[in-house]
Amino acid sequence: MKVLIHNSAELAQQSVADILVHRIIARPTSVIGLATGGTMEAVYDKLIAALSDRNAPVDDLVTFNLDEYWGLPPGHPASYRSYMNARLFDPAGIPQVRTNLPDGDATDPIVESNAYEQKIKDAGGIDIQLLGIGQNGHIGFNEPTSSLASRTRLKTLTESTRKANQQYFDGAETTPKYAITMGIGTILDAEECLLLATGASKAEAVFKMIEGPLGAHCPASALQLHPRATIVLDAAAASTLQLLEYYQYVHPNGLDKHPSHA
Ligand code: F6R
Repeated sequence: MKVLIHNSAELAQQSVADILVHRIIARPTSVIGLATGGTMEAVYDKLIAALSDRNAPVDDLVTFNLDEYWGLPPGHPASYRSYMNARLFDPAGIPQVRTNLPDGDATDPIVESNAYEQKIKDAGGIDIQLLGIGQNGHIGFNEPTSSLASRTRLKTLTESTRKANQQYFDGAETTPKYAITMGIGTILDAEECLLLATGASKAEAVFKMIEGPLGAHCPASALQLHPRATIVLDAAAASTLQLLEYYQYVHPNGLDKHPSHA
């Protein structure tokens, strides 16, 4: 695991945007796994600016999002499809036909989940998967006790996840209870994983992910098994790490001198 710690959330977000632009320029046909949530909002703003500054080609990209609420039509303002269109795809000019999210409107989530797995396979697999982390250690919507070998499927959201996401809905009643999410096994199949966590509210989950025992109690700890996982943090999210000095010694100020090594 590569742990890159930046002094501020802004620097951490910029470094994630820079890593993505670098990959896109190096390989304009990249298959990119994307995440949603509050953490990614500033990343996408910075990514749009960096793509435009560097005149990066986006017409041949293919994207797969981690998850979508089940029971929400794609046009619902709080759907992840709406989020992605508004925050990245439309402003960056990424052709909608090349973007994929699970269909939150699917009548049969098993059929939809299997079809999503197949689409990822048909695209040749994911080159780089962007991830956030929940306060309970989830990645995608793989809540604690998710199988570390799980594939795309319907998951019931925990109360803590629903509470964190309630701000995007009218209230507790209308906050979705289910999501279709890539599984942990699906995420681990990506050639490279890139997780961003910012803020003190993520510090405990970050500690368990990086330094805790590998286990389903913290789904993100499965990244310990990935040969190319990069974790980008701000100082607040890194504050409870026991080997903090070591990470800072290896990568001062989050500087990555050897981007191809994990
Ligand atoms: C969303 C997703 C989730 C979020 C996580 C953190 O696509 O995959 O795992 O990354 O819930 O959300 P924020 O950034 O809102 O704290």
